[in-house]
Amino acid sequence: MTLQEKLGQMTQRPAPRQDRSSAELLGDIRAGRVGSILNTRDLQHREELQRAAVEGSRLKIPLLFGRDVIHGYRTAFPIPLGQASSFNPELVEEAAAIAAREAKEEGIDWSFAPMIDVARDPRWGRVAEGFGEDPELVACLGAAVVRGFQGQDPSDDHRIAACAKHFAGYGAVEAGREYSTTLIPEQQLHEVYLVPFERAVRQGVLTLMSAFNDLNGVPATGNEQLLRRILKQAWGFQGLVVSDWAAVKELIPHGLCEDERHAAEVALIAGVDLEMASSCFFDQLGELIESGKVDRALVDQAVIRILGVKERLGLFERPSRPAPSVSCQLSNPHLEVAQRLAEQSLVLLKNHERILPLSPELRRLAVIGPLADSANDQIGCWCYDADRERAVTPLGALRACRERDWTIDYTAGLPDCRSKDTSGFDAAISAAQSADLTLLFVGESAQMSGEARSRAFLDLPGAQQELLEQLAGTGRPLVTIVLAGRPLIVSRAAQLSDALIYAWHPGTMAGPALLELLLGNQAPSGKLPISLPRAVGQIPIYYAHKSTGRPPSADSLGITEGTPMDPKGMDARYLDVEVSPLYPFGFGLSYTSFEYHGLEVTPRQGSVEQSVEVRVWLVNTGAVTATEVVQLYVADLVASVTRPVRELKAFRRVTLEAGARQLLRFTLGPGQLSLVNRSLSRVVEPGRFRVFLGGDSRASLCADFELM
Ligand code: NOJ
Repeated sequence: MTLQEKLGQMTQRPAPRQDRSSAELLGDIRAGRVGSILNTRDLQHREELQRAAVEGSRLKIPLLFGRDVIHGYRTAFPIPLGQASSFNPELVEEAAAIAAREAKEEGIDWSFAPMIDVARDPRWGRVAEGFGEDPELVACLGAAVVRGFQGQDPSDDHRIAACAKHFAGYGAVEAGREYSTTLIPEQQLHEVYLVPFERAVRQGVLTLMSAFNDLNGVPATGNEQLLRRILKQAWGFQGLVVSDWAAVKELIPHGLCEDERHAAEVALIAGVDLEMASSCFFDQLGELIESGKVDRALVDQAVIRILGVKERLGLFERPSRPAPSVSCQLSNPHLEVAQRLAEQSLVLLKNHERILPLSPELRRLAVIGPLADSANDQIGCWCYDADRERAVTPLGALRACRERDWTIDYTAGLPDCRSKDTSGFDAAISAAQSADLTLLFVGESAQMSGEARSRAFLDLPGAQQELLEQLAGTGRPLVTIVLAGRPLIVSRAAQLSDALIYAWHPGTMAGPALLELLLGNQAPSGKLPISLPRAVGQIPIYYAHKSTGRPPSADSLGITEGTPMDPKGMDARYLDVEVSPLYPFGFGLSYTSFEYHGLEVTPRQGSVEQSVEVRVWLVNTGAVTATEVVQLYVADLVASVTRPVRELKAFRRVTLEAGARQLLRFTLGPGQLSLVNRSLSRVVEPGRFRVFLGGDSRASLCADFELM
C-alpha cells in the first residue's frame, strides 16, 4: 500500500446528501482516499460506492459502512434506557440481533452502538441512549448488545460489527452539559466508567469510539493513557478505534492542539485508528511521516486493525451481499420481540388502590395528552431508520382493543408537549369529567433527548404540568403515563395521579405493550435503571454513593438544632428536600407482591480467594402470575478506600405463579468482591461484607460474611 492508500483506510467520510458531491466521493473512493463511509442513503447508494471501491480502486479494498443503529432499525425497540428497565440481557441481545439482521439486509456492516457510558445526570440528553447509572447493569446489557450484533461469527449474513462508545467518561459531563468537561477521579474511572468497556472488550467487540470530552485535562480522543495504555495494551483490544465525529479536529478548540497537523499527530499517537468526518489524518499525516516526526509504524498498526475488522466481517470475500428475496424487516417475530421488550421496559411507579389493571367495568375512557398518539415521539431519539408508519400508538391500540367494551374519547389537550397553548384544556377537562377514568400521556418529545439535548429544568415541558393539575382537579380517576428520554421531575404527577407509569420511549410497539399492562394480561416487571430525583438540585443522585462522615438518616431534612460549635443533627442533608430520590434505582411495582426470606450466605467466614454462595427464597404472595427482578447488592463495610454504600452485583428475572415460591442461588466470586485500591490495582481485601437481597436498591433483607 502507498502511504496515501493507508491514510485513505484511516479516513471515514460522511456520505453527501447531494448526487453532485457523490460524484466527487466516487472519485475519491477510486483513488483510495476513503476506507469507510457513514450515513449513506440506502442500499443502492451503498452498492454504488462499494463497486467504486472493489472494482475501481487499485487495491480493491472494500469500504466499511457504519451507521447509528441504536435501538432498532426499521423495527424500533425501546430507547436503551427503556431496554435497561427490563433488566433482561437475553431479550436485549435478541433485539440487537434483530436490528443487525434488518440493517445488514440494507448493506450496513457496522453499528455505532452500544453506548455504554454510565450516566448519572439526567440533564444530559444522552442518558436516553445508555443503560443508566449502574456499571454492572450497563456492562451486562452492553455485552448483550455486542453478542446480539456480532454473534459467534460477525461475517455471518445477518451480523454486523458493534462499537462500544464513547470511550471514556462522556456520561459524566459537568452539569449535564453536552460536550462539556469531565473530571473523574482515577479510582472512580476504573471502578465505574471503564467497567462496561472492559466487559465489551472481553465480549469481543470489534470497535470502540473515542469520546468528545476532555477527561481530567486530556480530551479522550487525544488521550494516550486511555486509548493506547489501558485499552490496547492493558486490555489487549485488537479491533479498531474510531474517533467520534470530527473529534480529532476538535482537539484544536479543546486547546490541546495548535492546528490540524498537531491534532493528527496527537490522535494517532494516542491510539485513534480511524478518523470520523474530519480529515486531519489524510491531509496531515503524510508530511508528518515523510519528515520523520511521526513513526510510520503507527500508521501501519492502525491500518492493520482496520483491515482486520474488514476481514472479520468477511468483506474481502463478500463486499456486498444480495438483498434477501423476502425482507425480514418488521416481520411478525420482530414486532413480537419489540412488544415484549416494550412491555418489560414499562415501570409502574404508583398504583393507588390497585386502580390498575383497568377494571372491566369501565365504559368510557378519556385519552388525553400530546403523546397519546405521536408515532414519532414514542420511537424516541436516534432511530432515523424506524418505520414511523408502522408504529402503533397507545391511542391506536386502545381504539383497536376488542377485549373491552369501552368508548374512547380522545383529545390532545395541547398541540405538542412543549406548547403553552392552553386553548385545548376545556375540551380535555370536559372529556375527563364525563369519563370513568382518564389516561394522560405526557412527557418529552423524541427530539428533547439524545445528542446536544441537555436540559437545566427537568419539569414536564410546556403547559403539561398545568394540564395535569387541571385534570386532577376534576376529581376523576387519573392514570398518568410519562414518555421521556430521561428521568423527569415527576413529584407532582406522582402526587396527583392514581397511577403512574414511566414508559420512556417504547418504540414501534408502544401501544400494544402498554395495552397488555393496562388490561392486566401482563403484570408490569420493569425496574428503574436510574434514580428519579425529587429536584434538579439533587443531581447527581445515584444509589451507589459513598457514605460520608455524617451519613443522613432517611428522614433528615431541614434546619437542625446543631451549630458548628455543637453539631447536633448536622448531617449530609438538604434544608429543602429529602436526600433520597423520589423513586430509587431498581424500583418498580407489579400487580402482585413478592416476599423474600431465608437469606443464607455460605461460608460466613472464608478466604479472599474463595467464592461465596448466597441463597434466598422468593415467594409470590399476590394473586397473579408475575415476574420479579431479584437484585443482589453488596456493601464492603470497611476497606482501605471508602466504598459505595452498596453495589449491584447480580440480578435475575424470576417468573412465579400466584402463591409459588423458588429458591434462588447466586455465587459471588472474588472479581465481584474486589475493589480498586489506592494504587489502582483490583484486589479483594479481607474484612466484613454485607449482602442485600430484594426488589430494589433499598432492599433491607441482609446477611454478613467475612473474608480473611
Ligand atoms: C456523534 C455521536 O456522538 C456518536 O455517538 C455518533 O455515533 C456519531 N455522531 C455518528 O453519527
